[in-house]
Amino acid sequence: KTSQSTGLPLRASTAMLPGGYAVLAMIISAHLLAPAESASMECDGNPQTSNSTFPSTLKLLAAGLPGNASTSPNGFATATVGTAPGLVYGMALCRGGTNASSCRACVAKAFGDAQASCPGDTGAAMYEDGCVLRFSVQRFLDFLGADQWQVREITFSVVADRASVVVSAAWFGAALSAILTAVVNHAVSSPSPAASSNSTIRSKFFATGEVAFNPRIYGLAQCMPNLAPAQCDGCLRRLQDEATPYLDGGTNPGWIEAGSAWCILRYSVRPIYDGQAMLQLPAPPPPSPSVPPEHGAGSS
Ligand SMILES: *[C@@H]1O[C@H](CO)[C@@H](O)[C@H](O)[C@H]1NC(C)=O
Ligand SMILES: *[C@@H]1O[C@H](CO)[C@@H](O)[C@H](O)[C@H]1NC(C)=O
Ligand SMILES: *[C@@H]1O[C@H](CO)[C@@H](O)[C@H](O)[C@H]1NC(C)=O
Ligand SMILES: *[C@@H]1O[C@H](CO)[C@@H](O)[C@H](O)[C@H]1NC(C)=O
Repeated sequence: KTSQSTGLPLRASTAMLPGGYAVLAMIISAHLLAPAESASMECDGNPQTSNSTFPSTLKLLAAGLPGNASTSPNGFATATVGTAPGLVYGMALCRGGTNASSCRACVAKAFGDAQASCPGDTGAAMYEDGCVLRFSVQRFLDFLGADQWQVREITFSVVADRASVVVSAAWFGAALSAILTAVVNHAVSSPSPAASSNSTIRSKFFATGEVAFNPRIYGLAQCMPNLAPAQCDGCLRRLQDEATPYLDGGTNPGWIEAGSAWCILRYSVRPIYDGQAMLQLPAPPPPSPSVPPEHGAGSS
């Protein structure tokens, strides 16, 4: 009996943001083994009023934020635009190692995708392959304050898809667990941009890694540069915890994207970043064959 690929997303999560409004995680596309075509988002679920200045203020944000993120050293920018009480807050982060033109294009696309995906809403988080965008009329950056930050209240979305992997689920799971742990540890321990011309390692809180498994497994972890190191650590470990159920049970997902407005954790059996990985891991040893209990374990 084989469990074959279905092409169906395994789960999407919903959660609440502090402030009490529901956030719905939805899947735009989850093509089988095609992370390059995947994007997911969360809508605030907070509709515009008919006389709202939101559309014009969002237009200003969308005009400025892509360029500002692309020219910053970390590919990161925050902004507040408009006039009270019609302020709109924004934050964008490009994947580590992306160049300025790709960064700008990704954030600009994320604005379009978010508005198409959350029509009439006053806020959204959009997780593209090359960048993360969050905008809202909510003062969401306040969440980083010591009095508000609660790892358990981070909203997230997990999108996963299956691969037809021939090795045992336990072995594949061990390789996935190894790469996710390695990229999380490395991202958290790189709190300042490396003094290097090497563009793959110039970003703060960013790590890529590969496991020499068959299939080869690619992992990526990144936090918003405005997080404290302990917040980055808490955010990524939360996402790793949320992704872990997908690594068990024989589902053998071919890729997982766990996204929040504050950090991102991904792996795939296809490359998910440009250039060389920062970490190279050997394949874990195969699990020792287990004796099924019904075959008389313990008898001679
Ligand atoms: C928009 O309309 C609502 C009710 O229709 C009103 O309470 C609010 O003050 C209006 N806002 C502006 C900026 O005119
Ligand atoms: C972009 O950066 C410029 C220069 O720092 C600033 O004046 C502008 O408000 C920013 N715009 C946005 C939307 O972030
Ligand atoms: C930026 O990166 C993209 C994707 O890797 C590449 O196609 C493009 O040529 C690069 N542009 C510059 C100016 O380096
Ligand atoms: C950048 O750093 C990575 C990881 O240390 C390394 O594998 C790669 O060769 C470096 N690239 C350049 C151009 O130095």
